[in-house]
Formats: sequence, structure tokens, C-alpha cells
Amino acid sequence: MRIRLVLTWKKVAGLIVLGIAGALLVGWSGLVSIAASSGHFAITRWFLGWTMENAVETQSMLIKKPEHIELDDPALIRRSAGHYATGCAACHGAPGVPQSPVVEQMTPSPPRLEEKVGDWSDEELFWIVKNGIKYSGMPAWPAPEREDEVWAQVAFLRALPGMTRAEYAELALGGGLADSDVAAGGETTAALDGIVENALADCARCHGRDGLGRGAGKAGDAFPVIAGQPAAYLYATLRAFALGRRESGFMEPPANRYTPEVLEALAQHYAARPGREIAAAGGAKPAATASGAAGHPFEDAPVAGEPYNGRAPENSLLSLESWQDQAGVLEGEGELSYAEVPLAAAAGPPTSREGILRLGRRIALEGIGFRKVPACQSCHGQAGWARNPYYPYLAGQAEWYLSEQLSLWQEGRRGGTEYAHVMNEIARNMTDEQIEAVSAWYSELPEPVQDERETSPPSSR
Ligand code: HEC
Ligand code: HEC
Ligand code: HEC
Repeated sequence: MRIRLVLTWKKVAGLIVLGIAGALLVGWSGLVSIAASSGHFAITRWFLGWTMENAVETQSMLIKKPEHIELDDPALIRRSAGHYATGCAACHGAPGVPQSPVVEQMTPSPPRLEEKVGDWSDEELFWIVKNGIKYSGMPAWPAPEREDEVWAQVAFLRALPGMTRAEYAELALGGGLADSDVAAGGETTAALDGIVENALADCARCHGRDGLGRGAGKAGDAFPVIAGQPAAYLYATLRAFALGRRESGFMEPPANRYTPEVLEALAQHYAARPGREIAAAGGAKPAATASGAAGHPFEDAPVAGEPYNGRAPENSLLSLESWQDQAGVLEGEGELSYAEVPLAAAAGPPTSREGILRLGRRIALEGIGFRKVPACQSCHGQAGWARNPYYPYLAGQAEWYLSEQLSLWQEGRRGGTEYAHVMNEIARNMTDEQIEAVSAWYSELPEPVQDERETSPPSSR
């Protein structure tokens, strides 16, 4: 006997309808096992794992690690360690921190990452950390725009195998890891209880109690310096993180943990700490202690070094005529002698560190008239601080941080306080070389800067 099956469109359509109806029936019946307790059949587990691995492999194919990022950079590892403790360890455990029996009952249960990271390429880890994994509990990065942060987290994952408990505690927990804190999975909650009592201990895991950041040597620059910034700026910035108006996977969670009152107290605390000592001639200090009036500490900030006395210093590329107008925006090239330090790429960007610093200095003090970039110092120097407590200082700030912020503005992704928009156009009018140069100069501040317009306005005006 032969059964002849003739496929017609009608029959195919019928089968599809039947299939959908069947699926709906199964879903409606309430008999599908969705219990985490029952786990998956071995075949289901294999299939899901296989699908996930293929998806990650395929979808990470176009990802390329930016050249300037080195995954063994101790600053990157340190920058993301604190976030690992509060954002990942609760599920994945950490060196010396066992996983909680609670998360072990998840399906799938989060693996210990020390044992797993070796299976993935850098780009695949990046993809997983950035996007998360659906139906598994593995979350996506809180600030999807901040790929630089995701790379930092990947650097930490790479350092994870072989990391000792003491090393982890030092990196992620501000050095403190009391034995009582390492009950299985208890680390995060125990640490968080402590945090509620003392929010500062939370911030200090990354920024230090002095606001200068933690770590020495190359890792000393892992975090932006927040010491000595105007309290108003710090508070407004913390609220911007909390409200999602400024994006950072590292900062949005801690800013969200506290009420505005607590954030205000934290802002006051850090505003009152002295800023970073610059290894410059005369040791200029970017910020003073909180002694200023009107709630911000900068009015009488001592600045070491020779004050301008109406004459340009010898060998300086600046002349007094070149100080910009009071409004902070240059009208045009005017009498500026741009020939000495090429500002545009026309003559090729400066290649020596010294050339870069000179260009940076020039942008900071004079701006770039023909690109409509005002002198940074007009807002970011003492005169600026005195005028507006929402202007942060830049002197002594970490170089990566300055250039990253400027790039974010260039791409329209920085956000910030309600004054942040003034930086939009400034950054957009700058070239990458100019950003690099001005960031290098402010981070090193090779010589003390006096805010000339404030102390001795040019007599020629
Ligand atoms: C709520 C729990 C949870 C949190 C928080 C969490 N993960 Fe996961 N993660 C998981 C689960 C569950 C899986 C397993 C997914 C799977 O196998 O499909 C996973 C998988 C991973 C993997 C792939 C490992 C592998 O080989 O299967 C990496 C890498 C990873 N997570 C990194 C992180 C990082 C980094 C963080 C913090 C930024 C984090 N996770 C936060 C639950 C979590
Ligand atoms: C997990 C590490 C971590 C923790 C915890 C942390 N920060 Fe941050 N913080 C960072 C990083 C990284 C940045 C840089 C963000 C960026 O790149 O945009 C930052 C940026 C900031 C800024 C912006 C600085 C500027 O110049 O605009 C402020 C203010 C700040 N943090 C304050 C705090 C306070 C207060 C706390 C405690 C409630 C805290 N942070 C907790 C890592 C952390
Ligand atoms: C008109 C005033 C003004 C001028 C001129 C100005 N800035 Fe700003 N800048 C601001 C304000 C306001 C903020 C704070 C933005 C916010 O709310 O986060 C800021 C923030 C920044 C930040 C981020 C600092 C931090 O701690 O996060 C960088 C970097 C920066 N400016 C660089 C520059 C550079 C470089 C120049 C010169 C080319 C410049 N700015 C000129 C007003 C100015």
C-alpha cells in the first residue's frame, strides 16, 4: 500500500494553524514547567547553552577592541573592581567570596567566572557584559552608551583567575573584608548594610576617603579626582547620575543608593578635601580647603608660583593681547599668533609630548578663536569658579577621564548638570588632537596657572 502525500498550500497553511493552536493550548493548559527548582533536561540545557554560545560568537564578530585599551592596564582593573563587588559578585561570587545558596537555585545558575572567562574571547566577554543574556537573569550594562566602562569590566574579568582574596578585597572593597562579611553570598548585603550606616565607606571603595582615588602608580588614575570640587557641582552631578541624566554604569548605582540629603552630605565632605598636589614647579594645588564663602571653597584658593604682573612671562607663547574677552569667547583670530603652535591639523598634530602640552596649554589659556572654542580657563579657572559653583576644576584631573568626557560631549552623550550643555558645542568644535592635548596639559599642569583676568586685567584693554 502506498500513501501519497500531496502538499498543497492549503495543507501547509492548515499545519501552521494547527501548530500555533497546539502551542497556545500547551501554554493555556498551565502544565509547562517553569519551575526553577526542576532545572532543565540535559538536552534542553545543552541546546540553550549551544544557542547562547553561537549567538554570542556571531553577534560579537563586528566588535573591535579600541587600540588604546590594554586589558592588563591596572587602572582599568581597579576602576571596575568596585562595581564587580556590588554589581556582579552577588550572583557570580568573587575570590574568597562563596556564592550564595540562593543564587545557586537559579536556572541557569550563575557560574563562577574565574572558571569561565577563559572560554571566551575579549570581544565575546564584552558582548555578554554589555548586552546581558535574556531569560537567565544576567543583566545588561546599566549605561549602554559607555562602552569604555564595559571594556574596563572585561579587563577585571581577565584579571579574575588567580586573584587572591586579599587582592580582591584591596581592589574592590577598600581593603576591608572582615571575616563576618564572607559568609556565602553575604558579601554584598553585609557590605550594603555597612554602606547604609556610612555611605562614605561605599564611595571610598573607589574614590578613597580623600576623594583622590585609590591605587598607586599606573592605577592611581583609575578614578576622577572629586576632592575639592565645588560642593554645588558635586551634588548636582550626583543627582544627575541618580536621575540618569548623566550615564555611567559605575556611578549610577551608587548615586541611586542614597537620598538627596545623603548625597548632599557626601558632596560637602568631598568638596572640603584638598585637591591633588600637582608635581609642577611650585606645586600648584588646584583646589583649596573649604574655607570660601557662599558654599564653595574657591574664592581664596592659593595658587603657587609667580602671579602675572601685566607682562607675559619670558619664553611664553602667549601675549597679553591674546587674552580673550570677558564673555569668554574669542571673536576671531585677531592678533593671535597662531603660527607658533599650529592649532589645526594643517601642519600635522604635534608628536612630541612637549608639543602636545604646548598646544594644550594654548587651548586652555587662549582657546581657539577660529574654531569658536573659548579658553577653558575662563570657566575652569578660579575666576570661573568664583562666578559659578557649577564649573568643575580640571587641573590635576586624570587624563583619560578628561578626554573621555570631551569625547562623550562630542558624540552628544555626556549629559550632566543643567549647565552641561555649554560644553556641547565647545567639544564638538574640537579635533581629537586638540582634546588629547588639552587633556594632557590639564592632567599634568606642567606649570602653575594664575588666573590673569581676575587678578590683573590686561592694561591694554
Ligand atoms: C542576577 C544575577 C546576575 C548578575 C547580577 C550578573 N550575572 Fe552574569 N550571569 C548570570 C547568569 C544566570 C549567567 C548564566 C547565563 C547562561 O548560562 O545562559 C551569567 C553569565 C555570565 C557570563 C558568561 C559566563 C559563562 O561562561 O556562562 C559572564 C561573563 C557574566 N555573567 C559576567 C557578569 C558580570 C561582569 C556581571 C556584573 C557586571 C554580572 N555577570 C552580573 C547572572 C548574573
Ligand atoms: C564602583 C566604583 C565607584 C563607586 C562605588 C563610586 N564612584 Fe564615583 N565615579 C566612579 C567612576 C569610574 C567615575 C567616572 C565616571 C565617568 O567616567 O563618567 C566616577 C565619577 C564620580 C563623580 C563625577 C566626577 C566629576 O568630575 O564629574 C562624582 C561626583 C562621584 N563619582 C562621586 C561619588 C560618590 C559621592 C560616591 C559614593 C556615593 C561614589 N562616587 C561612588 C566610580 C565610583
Ligand atoms: C562657558 C564656560 C565653560 C567653558 C569656556 C569651558 N567649560 Fe568645560 N565645563 C563647563 C561646565 C558648566 C561643566 C560642568 C558640566 C556638567 O554639568 O557636568 C564643564 C565640564 C567640563 C569637563 C568635565 C569635567 C568633569 O569633572 O567631569 C571637561 C573635561 C571640560 N569641561 C573641558 C573643557 C575644556 C577642555 C574647555 C576648553 C576648550 C572647556 N571645558 C571650556 C563650562 C565650561
